[in-house]
Amino acid sequence: MKVLVIGNGAREHALAWKLAQSSKVQRVYVAPGNGGTAGDAALVNVPITDLNALADFAAQEKIVLTVVGPEAPLAAGVVDLFRSRGLRIFGPTRAAAQLESSKAFAKDFMQRHGIPTAHHAVFSDAAAAHAHVDQHGAPIVVKADGLAAGKGVVVAMTADEAHTAIDFMLREPGSVVIEEFMAGEEASFIVVADGKHALALATSQDHKRIGDGDTGPNTGGMGAYSPAPVVTPAVHARVMREVIQPTIAGMAADGHLFSGFLYAGLMIDGDGRARVVEFNARLGDPEAQVLLMRLKSDLFELLMAATDTHGGGVRDIELQWDRRSALGVVMASAGYPASPRLGDAIGGIPAGSEDTQVFHAATLKNAAGELVTSGGRVLTVTALGDPLRVAQQRAYAALEPIRFAGMQLRRDIGHRALKAR
Ligand code: AMP
Ligand code: GLY
Repeated sequence: MKVLVIGNGAREHALAWKLAQSSKVQRVYVAPGNGGTAGDAALVNVPITDLNALADFAAQEKIVLTVVGPEAPLAAGVVDLFRSRGLRIFGPTRAAAQLESSKAFAKDFMQRHGIPTAHHAVFSDAAAAHAHVDQHGAPIVVKADGLAAGKGVVVAMTADEAHTAIDFMLREPGSVVIEEFMAGEEASFIVVADGKHALALATSQDHKRIGDGDTGPNTGGMGAYSPAPVVTPAVHARVMREVIQPTIAGMAADGHLFSGFLYAGLMIDGDGRARVVEFNARLGDPEAQVLLMRLKSDLFELLMAATDTHGGGVRDIELQWDRRSALGVVMASAGYPASPRLGDAIGGIPAGSEDTQVFHAATLKNAAGELVTSGGRVLTVTALGDPLRVAQQRAYAALEPIRFAGMQLRRDIGHRALKAR
């Protein structure tokens, strides 16, 4: 059977790599993919924004299942379009994807369904927003409404920073969400949902800041590891009961069945209470790279079950995980995240092995057949090992020979989990 993955990052490379391992899958296509997906999949030269061309391709090639990586096509309604044409696709509809695409929608949803999160207020009027900050003081969090890929959030440690953020975000008509600051440790809690049931993937944690010691600007994620020790069995049970199940039930009750990957970004405090920082309607990147390294079950069978409208969905599925930890280090281009430089030649990528994989993101083969950088996050070098320290050593050893001008990477991925032990 043929499957299609939509997207061009390392998350999609990992999805294609994992789907290709299924004995039921003959061919994996990735649209548009990148310079590295070619080893595991065939590239389809269609951008993720051309929904009609994606559906035409799926129909023409008799694709059995399409899997969507990034948020943009979900928010644009790729799932609605595929379904209207009778094409099987794993992901939330445009309405359901609002859990990610509109922070105001997500906060209103959580409030109505009693899902724990920070108190918030929404403002389109700058004066009212400034008054709110004066009343509550700092630390306080200011967020732009809409898809901002992590860049639309300011965690203001002073009231001045909050006022500046409000003026910046409301320089054009729009709205801002102002939230209570939550203290604690973050973890990524991702489930496979079929509309009615949710099946938890292994836990993970990412590192959002560009610099060692969690300093500097926010990025899409500079590295990740799985499992996340902060999610103890007790915290896990509580998250399923207090966050995941009410979200799936609440979306169904509101008429927006959620099927797809649901990613709850959690803040977990010292008492083991988890509150939602944000929802994503997709797998995390780089979380997917470490999770898929650990997943032993057949991903194709899992996603077919999750999209089977006549069967039991994911209700009775038990996933098998590698008992080892996984850790992934992102290698980013010069200038990332503000203005990534393009076109630097990449050399020294090692071959994958049983416990090490290099997933490509912003890479492409230029006219001369050379592999070059084509955006911000270039590669995720991922390794398995037990304990986590071994996975960390393997990932850093594997990336040692890799070279490109101006490359940036963190040297401390996994530090929080290693300190916690
Ligand atoms: P978001 O795009 O909503 O995930 O926010 C980006 C990052 O800002 C999160 O990963 C957190 O580190 C931080 N953050 C967002 N909201 C809060 C909050 N209410 N309290 C503390 N930190 C937050
Ligand atoms: N790594 C965070 C995200 O994918 O949103």
